[in-house]
Formats: sequence, structure tokens, C-alpha cells
Amino acid sequence: MIKKGIILAGGMGTRMSPLTKAVNKQLLPIYDKPLIFYPLSILMLSKIKDILIIVNKGQLEQYKKIIPNGDNLGIKITYKEQATPKGLPDAFILGEKFIGKNNVALILGDNFFYGQNLTKMLLESSKLKNGAKVILHKVLKPEQYGVAKVNKFKKIIAIKEKPKKFISDLAITGLYFFDKMVVKYAKSLKPSKRGELEITDLLKKYQSKNNLKAEYIGRGGAWLDTGSIEDFYNTSLFVSAIENRQGFKIACIEEIAYLNKWINKDHIKKSIKFYGNCEYSNYLKKIIS
Ligand code: DAU
Repeated sequence: MIKKGIILAGGMGTRMSPLTKAVNKQLLPIYDKPLIFYPLSILMLSKIKDILIIVNKGQLEQYKKIIPNGDNLGIKITYKEQATPKGLPDAFILGEKFIGKNNVALILGDNFFYGQNLTKMLLESSKLKNGAKVILHKVLKPEQYGVAKVNKFKKIIAIKEKPKKFISDLAITGLYFFDKMVVKYAKSLKPSKRGELEITDLLKKYQSKNNLKAEYIGRGGAWLDTGSIEDFYNTSLFVSAIENRQGFKIACIEEIAYLNKWINKDHIKKSIKFYGNCEYSNYLKKIIS
């Protein structure tokens, strides 16, 4: 089982300025909680307890106010600053020491996943022993994402970052599982024309060795990338619609930790005190009552 995970939560958030001038994008709200809770919940649902969060230089203190170290979740959270956004594979260069000789999952700080078979798929994917695995989802506008073309045996035969010409409508979502070779491969990458290390180039290294696997999120699942203000707003509406209908919260990180038996009622009580008198605390009270 993969035991380590990285959340890449830096970036300048330029597409969302002025909202992101003073606050990191991943700390802005998706309905009733900060965006960062959602990718964090995905790693926790994958039973990953050792997590590195990569943040923008100068924004570490903001993060520590809301997620100090993981003690209240029964997990270990460490931080690393990224001086400038050099591209997604930089996560593995910055995370070299954290990764060591282990396999590792990467999730982008602005990715949102939801769906019935999600946990099963996550647990299955985190069993990865060697190679790399990507999670694909059909989208209407593939030109906005990294995409993968697959053959009838579901084997990936082509990968392209934001293709101008249509090659496939399967987007490569921002959740990846890698074996320990990833650090070496990331270090060997050269910046693309737009001056960034590209995740698609990293995936091509695995593809060329016939070691890239794919998993799918089908029609019943939702994958939303909160890249723009409109996406942010729509994701909030989605969360609000589900939560207010069912009464369950999406990405309540304390609930996941509690159900995983990583924490007990006392931890939840501490969290209630930490958050103060609010709707989120009321939900936590219900969990332990
Ligand atoms: O969301 C899925 C897509 O994410 C993939 O389909 C693409 O293949 C992949 O390149 C990426 O595309 P984006 O254009 O959405 O990436 P973006 O530059 O917006 O960065 C995604 C997140 O990662 C965002 O929250 C900021 C953070 N980030 C990004 C870079 C480049 C960092 O923390 N550091 C970085 O250096």
C-alpha cells in the first residue's frame, strides 16, 4: 500500500486574482470549508497518513493556522515551500527527502473528486507496486487538461498536455500514483515551451517503459477542477446541493479520521473547540453523539 502522499497546493492563483492576492487559492472556500480539505480527504480515504503539503513561499503560516500538523487527524502533515511555480513534477524534486525510497501519491490542491465507488477505486489504486497510475475522466472540453488516448484494451497510447487538436476526451485528473522511480524521472525532465516541468512528460517516461496504468471515474462520479472562479462557484453549488440534501458532509476530514479509527472522541472534541461555535462544529458534535 502507498503510505505517502503529496498535495501540491502552491501556484500563484493568477486566474483568480484579486481573490488570491492575499490568500492562497486552496484556502478559499468551497461552500463550507477550505478547498484544501477536499484533496486532503482524498488522500485520507486512500488510507495515506503521511502527507507533505507543498505551498507557496510566504504562505506557510496561513496553512498552519487551519492545519497545523495533523495531530487532530491522527496523521502526519509536513510542509514544504515552493519558491516559484516550476510545474507539477517539481513536487517530486522538492519532496525527494520526504519520498525516500517509497511509492507516492500526488494530488493537486485544486482538484475535487466525488462519487459512489471512489473509495474503492482509491484503495485499489494505492496498492500500486511499480509503474505509475493515472485516473481518467471523460470531459466536454479536453483542450483544458492533460489528456490520454487509450486503445480498446484500455491501454494508454498517447498523452498530450492541453491539446489544441482533438485526440481524446479523456482528461488526466490531478490524482496520480507513482513508484519510487518518480524522483529520478522528475529530475531528468526539461522545461516545456511554457517554461514549466510538465506532468505529461513525466507520465510519458512511464509510458515509454510500458509501465503506465489507467483507472477510470465513470459517469456516476464527479471530478471538478477548481481552476477558475466559475469552477469554484459551481463546485460550491455541487457540495451545497449534496450536503443539504443528505445531511452528510463531503470532505469532513475529522469524520474520515474517526471512521478510519485514527482518532477518538476526545480528538473530535478538541477540533470542536478549535473551530468554535459554527455549523461545521455542530456536524462534528453529531458524529460523536
Ligand atoms: O487538474 C488536472 C490538470 O492539472 C491536468 O489535466 C493537467 O495535465 C495538469 O497539467 C494540470 O493542469 P492545470 O493547468 O490545471 O495546472 P495548474 O497550473 O493550474 O496547477 C494545478 C495546481 O497545482 C494548482 O492548485 C496550483 C498548483 N501548482 C501548480 C504549479 C504549476 C503548484 O503548487 N506549483 C506549481 O509549480
